[in-house]
Amino acid sequence: MFTTVFPSSQANLPIDLFAAIAQLKQELNAVVLAHYYQDPDIQDVADYLGDSLGLSQQAAQTNADVIVFAGVHFMAETAKILNPDKLVLLPDLAAGCSLADSCPPAAFADFKRQYPDHLVISYINCSAEIKAMSDIICTSANAVKIVNQIPADQPIIFAPDRNLGRYVIQQTGRDMVLWQGSCMVHETFSEKKMVQLKMRYPEAETIAHPECETAVLRHASYIGSTTALLKYVQQSQSQSFIVATEPGIIHQMQKAVPNKQFIPAPPVNNCACNECPHMRLNTLEKLYLCMKHRTPEITLPEATRLAALQPIQRMLEMSV
Ligand code: 13P
Ligand code: SF4
Repeated sequence: MFTTVFPSSQANLPIDLFAAIAQLKQELNAVVLAHYYQDPDIQDVADYLGDSLGLSQQAAQTNADVIVFAGVHFMAETAKILNPDKLVLLPDLAAGCSLADSCPPAAFADFKRQYPDHLVISYINCSAEIKAMSDIICTSANAVKIVNQIPADQPIIFAPDRNLGRYVIQQTGRDMVLWQGSCMVHETFSEKKMVQLKMRYPEAETIAHPECETAVLRHASYIGSTTALLKYVQQSQSQSFIVATEPGIIHQMQKAVPNKQFIPAPPVNNCACNECPHMRLNTLEKLYLCMKHRTPEITLPEATRLAALQPIQRMLEMSV
C-alpha cells in the first residue's frame, strides 16, 4: 500500500487518506465494498473485495450502518435494494456501466412482450428497472449454475449481455433468446493482437472473462468471473498468464502469486480502453469525500426496489 497525501479542502492540511478513511469507517460504522476493477489504492482500503456475486452476498449480510460501494452504479444499487434502511454511498454517481446502458427499460419491456412464455434471467449488470422486469438475476460466477436449475422445457430470455449469454448457451446446451447488449471494455480486446501475444509468450496461459466476445474466448484455456480467474491463477501450474478482462484484477493476482507474470490482453487501439472508464471514475479522494460528506447516496423508488428485490433474492438462494 502506498500513501496518498493531498491538501484538505477545508483545513488546508495534508491528509493521509488511508488513515482518514479508516477513521471515517469507525465513526460511521461503515463497510467499504470494492470490485476488483477499482484502482489498486481503493482495493487496498476495502474491507471486502470481490466479484459481483461476492459483493452482493456481502451486501446482503453486512451489519454496517453505511455501505460505501467502490464499484459502479448497478452494484451500489443492488446493495441498496438489499438494504433499504442503510445509507449506500457511491464515490462518483456518474460511475455507470455500458452494458447496463445497452438495455433501456422501455425497449426491454417491448422485447419481453414478444416472448410472453419466457422466463427472464438478467445479468446483474443492469438497472433496477430491468431487474424489476426479471425473474432471476445472475452474475458471471453463477449464470451457468442458475440456467442449469431451470426445467428444460422452460424457454428463457437472457439479458443484457449477448457474450455471456452465448457462453452460457454453449455451456448448458440451452437455446436462450438473447438481448443484444455488451460491455465496451470486454469487446475492445483484439483477437489478432492476442494471437500475436500468444506467439510471443508461448508458455503463457490465456484466461478470460465471459463478457469477452466468442472469438477471444476461443483462445482461453480458462473462462470465469473475476474471483474465479483470481483463484485459477493461484491453482494453475502455469507461471505466466494473458489476462483478458479489465486489468484492475491484476493487482490482486500479483499480490496472491508475486512470482507469476500477468500480461493484460491488448485492446484494438494503442489506448488504455481495456480499463473500465466507469469503474475508474472512482478515486481514493472521492471515496474519502463521499464518506466525509455522506453523499452521493443511492436512492430508488420503493416500488422498483421491491420488484427488483425478488429476482436478486432468488439468485442468492440458487447460488448456495
Ligand atoms: P464479475 O464481477 O462477475 O466478475 O463481472 C465483472 C464485471 O463486468 C463487473 O462489471
Ligand atoms: Fe460495465 Fe464493462 Fe465496466 Fe463491467 S467492465 S462495469 S460490464 S462497462
